[in-house]
Amino acid sequence: MAKSKFAGGTKQGGSKIGFSTTAIHTGQEPDPSTGAVAVPIFATSTYVQEGLGKHKGYEYARVSNPTRTRLETNLAALECGTSAHVFASGMAAVTAVTQCFLKQGDHLICGHNVYGGVPRLFNQVLTNYGVEFSYVDTSDPDALKKAMRRNTRIVWVETPTNPLMVLTDIKEVARITHAGGAELVVDNTYMSPYFQQPLAFGADMVMHSTTKFLNGHSDGLGGVVVGTKPVHAEKLAFMQKASGAILSPFECWLVLRGVKTLAVRMEKHDENGREVADFLRKHPKLTQVLYPGFSDHPQHALAKRQMSGFGAMVTFETGSLRNAKKMLAKVRVCTLGESLGGVESLIEHPGRMTHASVAGTELEVPADLIRLSVGIETADDLIADLDRALS
Ligand SMILES: Cc1ncc(COP(=O)(O)O)c(C=O)c1O
Repeated sequence: MAKSKFAGGTKQGGSKIGFSTTAIHTGQEPDPSTGAVAVPIFATSTYVQEGLGKHKGYEYARVSNPTRTRLETNLAALECGTSAHVFASGMAAVTAVTQCFLKQGDHLICGHNVYGGVPRLFNQVLTNYGVEFSYVDTSDPDALKKAMRRNTRIVWVETPTNPLMVLTDIKEVARITHAGGAELVVDNTYMSPYFQQPLAFGADMVMHSTTKFLNGHSDGLGGVVVGTKPVHAEKLAFMQKASGAILSPFECWLVLRGVKTLAVRMEKHDENGREVADFLRKHPKLTQVLYPGFSDHPQHALAKRQMSGFGAMVTFETGSLRNAKKMLAKVRVCTLGESLGGVESLIEHPGRMTHASVAGTELEVPADLIRLSVGIETADDLIADLDRALS
């Protein structure tokens, strides 16, 4: 079974503490006023002031909330960053990064294969504000070098990519990005900080849809941006206050609860992912299975260097849209639905679902692809379900 090589970002008595200890205890300390072991949900919109400007650090809940502070402390530690700011969804977190760090005339380079909602935001909303975007295969450092412009401010990367499972060398891309005077943001949703910590390889910020593995139970939306510089913390806190797309106390609490079991869930996702990927690869009806855990995946060596597990995500080619539809109609244990990273296996058709918004563009994904987020059910049941669906 995979073991995270990442120790977590908090220190106790001068020594670094382990990932799971950080997940369970950092920001999750018992409530000092009552002793409650679980972080309370502070359902309040405002806070009493003893006198004008005299308060306990909390003034209004859009600006700050104690449940949110606890979650932000926890997530900053898990990604080994210096700050974290949570937002109402992953897309609200992406939006906040662009609002904080881009202005009219700036340029952002985005990986050519990312969650479809990201280019939808860039191409259909932010171009209206005079921001320029280009899409590059960031697994090719030369292509990135060529795409850098004088006004490039951000390079935006997902690794492995969604859904094609192409890896980007974070260290190399951080070097090129910094040489061009820009900052590297890595969407680490697919791997979670348990299997990959982009800041350790030189990324400047990490973003997650907490909707996925960090929550882990498919019962809440959320997003986070983890920063490394004071300016990240200042601007993102300001944007929470100014634009208001913050995460509610209840949804913060769901993520605080979810991360306590992140390590054990990720290990089981990884174990099941390996078994399911092996089964799919041997299936005669499938033309190709995209999974970085295979020793012949073109970037297997990079995967082993940069990640400490291969995770839950497997994408496969069925040969045609018809085959894909036929299979998806037959699954019973796997749930046909958008999203990923829940305890239940989630299966979907990127072309018609998560990536429908990039259909007809240079970012379109093949129509026969199916993406599977392998859950933590009994692996034999998942394999039997997929076998039946493919028959
Ligand atoms: C990799 C990735 N990033 C960002 C997002 C957007 O997150 P949300 O759905 O929480 O807005 C998603 C959603 O599927 C995703 O898969």
